[in-house]
Amino acid sequence: MDKLIINGGPRLNGEIRISGAKNAALPILAATLLADGPVTISNVPHLHDITTTMELLGRMGLELTIDEKMNVQVDSRTIREFFAPYELVRTMRASILVLGPLLTRFGRADVALPGGCAIGSRPVNLHLQGLAAMGAELTVDGGYIRATAKRLKGADLMMDLVTVTGTENLMMAATMAKGVTVIRNAAREPEVVDLANCLIGMGAIIDGAGTDTIRISGVESLSGTHYEILPDRIETGTYLVAATMTGGHVKLKSTKPELLEAVLSKLHDAGAEITTGDTWVELEMNGKRPRAVSIHTSPYPGFPTDMQAQFTALNCVAEGTGVITESVFENRFMHVLELQRMGAQIQIEGNTAITTGVAKLKSAPLMATDLRASASLVLAGLVAEGSTEVHRIYHIDRGYETIEEKLSNLGAQIRRVPG
Ligand code: UD1
Repeated sequence: MDKLIINGGPRLNGEIRISGAKNAALPILAATLLADGPVTISNVPHLHDITTTMELLGRMGLELTIDEKMNVQVDSRTIREFFAPYELVRTMRASILVLGPLLTRFGRADVALPGGCAIGSRPVNLHLQGLAAMGAELTVDGGYIRATAKRLKGADLMMDLVTVTGTENLMMAATMAKGVTVIRNAAREPEVVDLANCLIGMGAIIDGAGTDTIRISGVESLSGTHYEILPDRIETGTYLVAATMTGGHVKLKSTKPELLEAVLSKLHDAGAEITTGDTWVELEMNGKRPRAVSIHTSPYPGFPTDMQAQFTALNCVAEGTGVITESVFENRFMHVLELQRMGAQIQIEGNTAITTGVAKLKSAPLMATDLRASASLVLAGLVAEGSTEVHRIYHIDRGYETIEEKLSNLGAQIRRVPG
């Protein structure tokens, strides 16, 4: 298995381009199941999770073509199977996103119960409850969700919790249901809006995406379209934290800073000077050490849980003490044990990490445990004394496109070693 070796020290400096958002590309790939014609998607990031989703669609019989610029065309008219096998689903929880489209368009779906990142129990009960309220017959048998429906019916769905993929699955299911569906307490994440815009491009009737109430009027069929995925706000945030921790200066292009307000405000508190345009963000630390920040994660527009681990790494080398409370997922502090092995002063109390910055972290062999946790270990490696090895980096390849190349372009000393 590959590992990353990072020699800590250099201040990051330079410009890079941000990739398309993984969490928008995944539901949009699943949405191609709804269209009665080819859907072309551009700005698709080159990531493991994307490859897994494409493999999943390919196994169902869909025709996929990819050009060298990662424009992906998917044609669902050749579908043969309505089945998502465990061997693929277990590596990526977002595979559950095929359930809603399969059921609403073809009336049947067998989807393995998902695995994915080991960050808390992460059930899919709200996806299933919503589909049942729309008239689906669902059983869970042998680790598989077996679902059938004649035609889904519109329903008024009050979500107990804000769930991103739950909202997306139900929104996709509702596009071809009979009548009107209202999703209340819906997720407001920009990726939900991106999916809604793509569905609207396919002919769906959707109002209110980006608010907590989404209203969908079902149509008989959806057609092919062309859609460009929005930039990845989490990748953007991760490189901004990297620059802040190293006292550096970066300009990130092809991004959308307006989607990162909560993150930019915390980086400002940490001492960064930030300038933004519509499609770029520039951050300057002037060689300063960052100040520790306190954070409470919550659904959008709150501070994203997917940036929690990176800010925990930042606090490890910051001036002062920062308190980070994780309120979206249980058990999302697995990076803390690894950071402590580098000399970080972190105390965990329930779902809160209290970190007092140290002047220097020390390198150590590290084990990545989930996607964002592994990013935080790479960030820690950038500022640690000596050479840090991060193992099990398949987690990082699920969500960061060519991370070693992008960081090298910013002046980091990082390389991938097959092992
Ligand atoms: C999505 C993102 C992930 C991000 C998360 C929260 C994708 C592909 N992944 O994950 O990167 O960290 O949103 O922003 O978009 N829950 C239930 N029952 C359900 C569904 C969720 O109890 O049926 C709970 C979860 O355990 C969790 C909370 O709701 O505590 C939020 O999870 P959810 O928004 O569903 O996360 P994902 O959509 O899996």
